[in-house]
Amino acid sequence: MWNSDNPYLNGNYAPWREEGDALDLEVEGEIPRGLRGALYRIGPNPHFKPRGRYHWFDGDGMVHGFILKDGRAAYRNRYVLTDGLRAEMQAGRALFGGLLEAATDLPAGAPPFKNAANTNIIGYANWLLALFEASLPHALEPLTLATVGLYNFGGKVSGPVTAHPKFDPVSGDLLFFGYQPFPPYLTWYRADRAGNLLDARPIDSGLAVMMHDFVATDNYAIFFVCPSVFRIENLAAGKPLMNWEPQHGTRIGVMSRRTGEVKWFAAEAFFIFHFLNAYEEHDTLTVDGCRMSALDMSGNSFGQPPFPWRWRLNLADGSVKSEQLEDYVGEFPRLDERRAGKPHRFGYLAARARSSKGFDETGFDCIAKRDFRTGKTEFLKLGGGRMPGEPVFVPRAGTVSEDDGWVMSVWYDPTGDSSELVIQEAGDFAGSPVARIKAPHRVPFGFHGNWVPD
Ligand SMILES: [Fe+2]
Repeated sequence: MWNSDNPYLNGNYAPWREEGDALDLEVEGEIPRGLRGALYRIGPNPHFKPRGRYHWFDGDGMVHGFILKDGRAAYRNRYVLTDGLRAEMQAGRALFGGLLEAATDLPAGAPPFKNAANTNIIGYANWLLALFEASLPHALEPLTLATVGLYNFGGKVSGPVTAHPKFDPVSGDLLFFGYQPFPPYLTWYRADRAGNLLDARPIDSGLAVMMHDFVATDNYAIFFVCPSVFRIENLAAGKPLMNWEPQHGTRIGVMSRRTGEVKWFAAEAFFIFHFLNAYEEHDTLTVDGCRMSALDMSGNSFGQPPFPWRWRLNLADGSVKSEQLEDYVGEFPRLDERRAGKPHRFGYLAARARSSKGFDETGFDCIAKRDFRTGKTEFLKLGGGRMPGEPVFVPRAGTVSEDDGWVMSVWYDPTGDSSELVIQEAGDFAGSPVARIKAPHRVPFGFHGNWVPD
């Protein structure tokens, strides 16, 4: 579309700029009757041609909703109407810079950067929240996807909120954190399911870093301080905001959710975008996630591919042991979230077999279901060069056992330049998908999504 050699503005990374609604989508197979609700997925989708060097993380958030009921499917997509996007729509052009290049000529009164609201979307306190880790979430109307405005937990949160909050599977509380480039670098929060803030606690992490995700168990919240360091001064010099500084190593903070006390662990430098889960066993915390040996935020290559990895933190002697679990590339790890913070058997990832090509050049070609008890992985491939996004596990209503449900993912078919929502029975990963729901147009590659029951 726009004349650019930036890979994140071409192919299926290019934005889809129309908003719309479609009823009675074409379905191959049968949508399980037990699925009543919607899968919402969000991603970056620049409305105007970026004015400077564009990073994938900069684009305006667009929500894609697949609404399922009585075996039928509908689709709706909308931009999140942020203040920044509204200002640009008024001007008729891009105004803001991004991670790689700051704008130096913003109009008077404009915020210093855009809250792009593009990273994750959850159902919370009767709203959808469109999350962006550098700022507050936006609340959206679940049915219309209309943007209501910034969501600040009844005025109790003013700083940034992670795009990866976790639900406590017992209490329903929302567990989250915020990070920022000035002290306190890190703040822990907990709110009840209705939006009431219950807990806010600064954590002295010692270094201003980009922290995309965290993980929690019944008794602990675990923060990985990887050395992707904020260098605000870089932006004025035309350099990227985030700098890889491996000399700091990675520090892992384990905070007691009861007392707030933090125990720190030291490890080698690495980066992690996403965790699968963590759980407690005696004195040991087991943490599963996807590890990159370094992170390059200086352009549109992330530098190193992510691999499934496991850490064991020994609370008694302060040691860290870690091991690579697989040599296939795996990202966007998801869990049956009824197991969040507790021992899990299964995890799902977007994956591809290891190759010599860079991570960002090839994308994913399958969904992996890893059995952490046996160490075996099953792969779901659709062939024809089709590429999946994040696999979201949706439990079958009324069941309790892990793995009893479906895995949903939006796939892209480069041959037809089209997208589909694929529903796989989680317990029959080798079988054919139970339903393939054809989207009315391609859905650009994006970030995260969640199922919100009716
Ligand atoms: Fe993420």
